Amino acid sequence: MTIENRAAWLQAEKATPLVVGAGPTPDPSEDEVVIKVAYAAVNPADWMSQDIALPPHIKYPAILGLDVAGTVAQLGTNVTRFKIGQRVLGHCDGLATAKPSNNGFQLYSTTREIFVSAIPDSLPLENAAVLPVSISTAATALFVHLKLPLPSLNPTPTGQRILIWGGSSSVGCSLIQLAVAAGLEVVTTASTTNHDLMKSLGASHVFDYHDTDASEKLFGVLRDGDLVVDAISTKETQTTCGEILGRLGGGTLPVMQPQAGTFPENVKVVFVICIDVGFTALDVGNAVWRQYIPEALAAGKFEAKPDPIVIEGGLEKVQEGIDILRKGVSAKKIVINFS
Ligand SMILES: NC(=O)c1ccc[n+]([C@@H]2O[C@H](COP(=O)([O-])OP(=O)(O)OC[C@H]3O[C@@H](n4cnc5c(N)ncnc54)[C@H](OP(=O)(O)O)[C@@H]3O)[C@@H](O)[C@H]2O)c1
Repeated sequence: MTIENRAAWLQAEKATPLVVGAGPTPDPSEDEVVIKVAYAAVNPADWMSQDIALPPHIKYPAILGLDVAGTVAQLGTNVTRFKIGQRVLGHCDGLATAKPSNNGFQLYSTTREIFVSAIPDSLPLENAAVLPVSISTAATALFVHLKLPLPSLNPTPTGQRILIWGGSSSVGCSLIQLAVAAGLEVVTTASTTNHDLMKSLGASHVFDYHDTDASEKLFGVLRDGDLVVDAISTKETQTTCGEILGRLGGGTLPVMQPQAGTFPENVKVVFVICIDVGFTALDVGNAVWRQYIPEALAAGKFEAKPDPIVIEGGLEKVQEGIDILRKGVSAKKIVINFS
């Protein structure tokens, strides 16, 4: 049966709005899964790609979108982990492959099997859609760059602490949960309205980053040798995180945007590239995506946070979702209903 696909297209550099039209016909390679998208989430990368430019290896017209949840529509010949019709979430890998079919803002999205996880019946698809990219991003920061013990449902405490700057962001919520699952104690920053959420995800200490003396307060709980990740990664937060890590003795600082701050000599900044766990760091991708995440979701030990703000109306509403996220959210993910 041929699938009739539709997509929201970015027609040229800085073009707005996205234009809805026919989408690429799914044609999965042997290791790919085609997902009938029920909900797609919006990421900062989507508005940045529209406002600035796509990376040079991606040609226009292009499809944006990285996060989807839905049901399995087609399977590559090597894929045995899923069944047609199964409920899944997926991180779309189009930023690596440069193929329009490997992106989220279309009715049928194709991605590598390693970026797909089964989800339990108890997890609504609209909530599941908030997770995929944040899982890959957090896993790359923690397990590829900081080389933490791989996550476990029953982690052994390492005795180490990690500061996650910006815990209420989407990336921050997955960083907190995966760091706890690696056996670390988590210290984080967020607005006071989000402190209960941070604690519910496993953070031991939460500080309001709006306090002028937030950095000093952090040193009441941090010790030499502790780790730092910047989930926000503006120039200001990179500089702050670099100063803190420098005072803790230095080490590797994973950041989510290209290096922009100024840093002490004992701090090595690494720019996280989330698709690494499906292409180059396959040991981590395997441990997180194929093993830990499906088990932890089924056991209720990994929560789909932050909560979605659901926009109804399908592909025609993707531009509205991008425009809302561009203005900023607090512990929320913008999710569009395609079903
Ligand atoms: N490199 C990669 O592979 C990769 C992948 C995914 C995302 N990213 C990047 O990672 C960053 C985070 O993305 P996201 O989707 O997680 O963002 P998001 O959820 O849209 O971030 C919103 C949150 O940021 C928090 N925040 C804003 N300014 C802050 C500050 N100065 N200090 C601490 N928290 C602050 C807010 O906290 P409160 O409301 O509590 O104040 C809010 O909850 C973005 O730059 C994104 O482009 C990179």
